[in-house]
Formats: sequence, C-alpha cells, structure tokens
Amino acid sequence: MKPINVGLLGIGTVGGGTWTVLSRNAEEIARRAGRPIRITAVADRDVALAQRVTGGAARITADAFELVRDPEIDVVVELIGGYGIAKDLVLTAIENGKHVVTANKALLAVHGKEIFAAAQAKGVTVAFEAAVAGGIPIIKALREGLSANRIEWVAGIINGTTNFILSEMRDKGLPFADVLKQAQALGYAEADPTFDIEGVDAAHKITLMSALAFGIPVQFDKAYVEGITKLEATDIKYAEQLGYRIKLLGIARRRQAGIELRVHPTLIPTKRLIANVEGAMNAVLVQADAVGSTLYYGKGAGAEPTASAVIADLVDITRLATAGAEHRVPHLAFQADQLVDLPI
Ligand code: HSE
Repeated sequence: MKPINVGLLGIGTVGGGTWTVLSRNAEEIARRAGRPIRITAVADRDVALAQRVTGGAARITADAFELVRDPEIDVVVELIGGYGIAKDLVLTAIENGKHVVTANKALLAVHGKEIFAAAQAKGVTVAFEAAVAGGIPIIKALREGLSANRIEWVAGIINGTTNFILSEMRDKGLPFADVLKQAQALGYAEADPTFDIEGVDAAHKITLMSALAFGIPVQFDKAYVEGITKLEATDIKYAEQLGYRIKLLGIARRRQAGIELRVHPTLIPTKRLIANVEGAMNAVLVQADAVGSTLYYGKGAGAEPTASAVIADLVDITRLATAGAEHRVPHLAFQADQLVDLPI
C-alpha cells in the first residue's frame, strides 16, 4: 500500500530517535497504521548530521520552508522547538494542507489558540502526544480514555530534568550545576535549560493538559510558575528527615472560581507513590468523578520514549487518513495467524 510521506523538521535527539524507532519497527507500525509510514524528507541546519542518521534513505534539505510546502509530504513532524521559526513552519505546513505532529509544548502553550484555529479552518490535525510527559500516553488518556469523566484535578511530575536533578542531589549529594550538566548530556534538558529549572517547561505541559482535561483554551499566561533554582541541598535533606520528598509538580485544579494552574516545588509524604518517582521519570495523577484516581508513569524525556509518542501520533493520523473502517480499530489491523497456541 502507498506509504504516508512524512517530512521531519529537526533530526536532533528526538528526531534521531524517531528515525531509529520508525526504521526498527517499520513492519509492526505499518500493520497498526494500515499503511507504511515513511520519512521521505528531513530538514535540518546540520545537513551532514541528517545524512549520517538517515544513511541516504531520505531527501535532506537545509530549507525547512521548502519541505513544509512540498506537495509530496502528507504529515510534517516538527521537532525544532521554541516559539520562533517553528511557529512559522507549523502555520505554513497547515496552510499547505499538511497534518502536523509536534513535541513543541512551548509553541502550543503560548500560540496554541492560533495554531489549532488554523488547523481547524484547514481541516487538518495538529497532534502533540510527545509534547507532554514524553512516552506516557497522557494526552490520549485525557482526550479519549477519560472522556466520560468530569475531571477534578491533574497533578504531575512532568519535567524529567528537574526530577533527575532533585533525585541526584538527594541520593548522591551532587551539586545542582553538575547534575544539570548531566541532564543536558543525557538529552533530557531543553535547548535553553532555564525553561526546565525555572518551571516554565512544566507550566507549558500543565497548560496543555488543562485544556484537554477541562475544555478551556490554552492559557499559559495564567499559570503561576516557580522552579527549583531556590532549593538548596539542606531543604532536600530536612524534607527527608521529616518524611517528605520535594518534587516539582504541575497542578491544574477545578475551583469554584475557575481553573487554577500552577507549578512549584511541593512537599510530598515519602509513602505516596508519586514521591518515589525518581530520575527522569514522569508521573501524572488524574482525579476524575467516574473512574476515581488514575496514575500514569513512565519515561518523560529522552530520544526513544519521546519518539514513541511522536510515532503514536503518526499512526493515529495515518489510520484516520486511510480509507477502510478496519484500520480505525487497531486490533483488526493485526494478522490473526500470528497467534500461537500455548500448551495447556
Ligand atoms: N526538557 C524536558 C524534560 C524534555 O526534562 O522533561 C521532555 O519534555
């Protein structure tokens, strides 16, 4: 069957992971999507890097605008990040009738209203599972799995870099600056790590989750934001002695007066599950009226966990774009003859 053609903007950490996972699991992904998903073109300033990663199996260009206008491209994956050129590229892709998959929480939290309105007017999808909590399918859970519920609150550890810093400071007594460098080397941190340590990245993510949970517009400017830069090793030590862990939480809560959005370091009793989420792991708790409390846990940053979310969005878009109801129900896209008889 004719592949769906993807144009990839940015082949850094997550872009490289997306290339690797799509290549490694191509057959399985194609079965789930109903068609092969192929990255046919890559735009990156570092053309040599793009050539190295793709091994000549995709068209490489340094001109991202040329890629988002290319009539051969069905879906654009934006992994450049930031509010600047990424915004123009995403809007140009939409104008040109492309679906967009993005991991760019900053862009959507700040310019989401404009971008979603443009997509709606053009009849294309903007999917952003990778923008929140890396590999955890929390967007899908809020949008689909919990759609019967009135959600009361969402709270989570949604920045891997700061959780990694707090864990390493506590366990190894390492200084803040050293652990931040490690987080950067491991590919967890944003290009500008002040977004991580000042709580801005977590605020972008809680803003996006609150829009889905409560049906409100994305309003990053309404969030209270406080990071971990004022914390000292002694704060972490004393909290521990009193039976608490300090975690940077993003919280969105329904109040009488409206929805409250905030990000700040929080004392959590050590016996609570979420207090034991360590390293770059993320966890999101959702309190809802019908289902009660649900907890989602997994890798919140890094190349392949984030690629997993990017590709899940590509599969969704491909399934919806592919004629035939059988591909809308994922299990039917698998072949029954792959079942094995287990000895009883
Ligand atoms: N810088 C982000 C984090 C990357 O540390 O969580 C994933 O969004």
